Amino acid sequence: MHKIHPILSGLFALALSTGALAQQPIVIKFSHVVANDTPKGQGAERFKELAEKATSGRVKVELYPNSTLYKDKEELEALQLGAVQMLAPSLSKFAPLGVKEFELFDLPYIFPGKDVLNRVTEGPIGKSLFKKLESKNIVGLAYWDNGFKQMTSHKPMHDPSDFKGLKMRIQSSKVLDAQMRALGANPQVMAFSEVYQALQTGVVDGTENTPSNIYTQKTHEVQEHLTVSDHGYIGYAVIVNKKFWDSLPADIRTELEGAMKEATKYTNAIAQQENDKALNNIKQSGKTTVYTLNAKEKSEWRKALLPVQKEMQGRIGKDLINAVNKESATLGYK
Ligand code: LMR
Repeated sequence: MHKIHPILSGLFALALSTGALAQQPIVIKFSHVVANDTPKGQGAERFKELAEKATSGRVKVELYPNSTLYKDKEELEALQLGAVQMLAPSLSKFAPLGVKEFELFDLPYIFPGKDVLNRVTEGPIGKSLFKKLESKNIVGLAYWDNGFKQMTSHKPMHDPSDFKGLKMRIQSSKVLDAQMRALGANPQVMAFSEVYQALQTGVVDGTENTPSNIYTQKTHEVQEHLTVSDHGYIGYAVIVNKKFWDSLPADIRTELEGAMKEATKYTNAIAQQENDKALNNIKQSGKTTVYTLNAKEKSEWRKALLPVQKEMQGRIGKDLINAVNKESATLGYK
């Protein structure tokens, strides 16, 4: 029997192993901080399902919800280092990356309705914000909706003066810091995963979030009062590591873009109803008193919070704020 030349046998082994490598699926680790049973959690699940199907298993999406892999700040660092490939941080968490313009979305009462928000995220403003991410080795793929924020605390909050001296947890946004200060509260930046315990132990007195986040984090079990104020907004940017994204075979990238488009449509279609359902569940739980501001109180809140838009012009950009307000005017809001 002929012996195979050692070089040939080495080449044969290499061919076998690269063949085996070619069979390995491309893994996308998708980390996020909220529960599965939220608009973002469900959007991520839908993306996984669609992406794996569209690529016939050549891509595997591993989901890590509920801060199981990383907390707020760490997940952004992990994405830039390539330890995870995909995230969907709230738009309030981009300033530490050096793109503070995303805090536009945090300005109190900047979106009188979801129609204005859609014009912003789907139009040139949304695109220009994504462009700013590229130099950070990040590609923005989509904007995902959550909803309008409500306030919670251990005391009733009807008038802005009720916030005086309250320690309020916020996300890492200077606009949110200014917003809480405008109410006379003391803002405290804290990771999402730490909020429940901080409220339970009295490290902070209150917080703001969407009903879907409040309900799934059981915030209502450690807060006696919730005020339906709709004073601000929470949404997300789905982002990927640019080096990873650019290295994908073109056909795979196209399939993933298609899956993301579908998942985005789905998420944005369920967001409002998920929040309505969550608010109802909070009411039904009987664990917290839910109060909705009347017209007079709303106007007091607006009076207290609208100056934040002007105060933050230097940070966000006057043109950017004006462009959003122009969209509102075009859609008939005063
Ligand atoms: C928060 O940190 O309060 C939320 O924005 C978390 C999230 O991703 O919705």
